[in-house]
Amino acid sequence: MQIRAARTLVFTQHDGGMLGCNYLAKQVFGCDPTLISVLSDTSDWTDVRALVDGPFQGDSDAVDALIGYSAVVVEGSELARKEQEYISEWHWNVPTGMMHFCLEDAEMMSIEESEAAQLARSRVEPQPSLFMRNAPRLPVIALPDAGKRTDLLELMARRRTVRAAGSPSIALSQLADCLYAGMGITGFTSNVVGDLPLGMTPSGGARNPYEAYVFARSVDGLEAGIYHYSALDHDLAKVSGVLPKFSELIGGQDWADEMPCLIVLTADLRRTMWKYRDPNAYRVVLIEAGHIGQNVMLAATHHGLSACPTAALSQGRIRELLGLKRITDAPVYAMTLSVPGSEPSVARIQ
Ligand SMILES: Cc1cc2nc3c(=O)[nH]c(=O)nc-3n(C[C@H](O)[C@H](O)[C@H](O)COP(=O)(O)O)c2cc1C
Repeated sequence: MQIRAARTLVFTQHDGGMLGCNYLAKQVFGCDPTLISVLSDTSDWTDVRALVDGPFQGDSDAVDALIGYSAVVVEGSELARKEQEYISEWHWNVPTGMMHFCLEDAEMMSIEESEAAQLARSRVEPQPSLFMRNAPRLPVIALPDAGKRTDLLELMARRRTVRAAGSPSIALSQLADCLYAGMGITGFTSNVVGDLPLGMTPSGGARNPYEAYVFARSVDGLEAGIYHYSALDHDLAKVSGVLPKFSELIGGQDWADEMPCLIVLTADLRRTMWKYRDPNAYRVVLIEAGHIGQNVMLAATHHGLSACPTAALSQGRIRELLGLKRITDAPVYAMTLSVPGSEPSVARIQ
């Protein structure tokens, strides 16, 4: 068996010792200068026996542990394949890759755990003010009333996240408008290398990295299943008839299980990365999800629906269901759609 030091390792001081992290494999391990030296001497494929007989002095368990922690990669393994894909396809820098892969499939707190943690923290550290007034900066300039002067502002002011369904289903036409508002292609522009799609939301370089998938549980006129939305053609195509509980896709949030529909936005990072090799473009991709999400939410509000957003995604499960295999496919944002039901008067927010 041939192994070599993983190509996606970072090291840091922790509690008086050193920690290594394979950020592509999301594995953390304790290490010492000897191990760091062995890893730096194992940058090329090396027979395991050479390591066991050499620096590890007959201790084959130590080498197994390194494989288990993904400090080293086994030739021909799934991790070696993924690493190779990372080396050739990931054009942003190490901190960006580290953040991206380490945040995938993050563990989520329950509402109870989150509330308990906030109460405990508030006893020792008051929360920062959640708005900033102008009062110390005098004089203040009063602005014309922005209350309900236009239909648009009135619509925007009505948007609310409601985590309860007031009706078992939504209409296909409502879903269609939400998808179109967020993703629809309304024109084209072009640059030196070709045509670029335009929509109702802005996109860095007009390179829209997002695709929308619909998880339809109860949409009138649509068989239950998972669908891909074509932004160019404004149509749906079935990806799968298998429909999991929505809570499995959004970090165990079980309020979603009664929702008729879930829209998931996945980024094809290659689209943005192809042009922008500067890792700041990673932030651009995330910002764009917010623009698309807001348009979906406003179209939902217009139809008397609530779109509940979440970034607490179970990326691995979503990827598996959608058949997204590239490391540059990134589920980023999702929102349920429903007629709003009644919620407790004190918000219980994850
Ligand atoms: C990026 C983002 C992620 C969110 N994630 C969650 C979530 O995981 N679960 C949830 O119940 N609400 C989530 N929300 C909704 C917020 O809790 C909600 O917007 C907030 O309570 C304010 O209520 P409003 O949307 O009615 O204005 C998220 C909102 C945003 C913008």
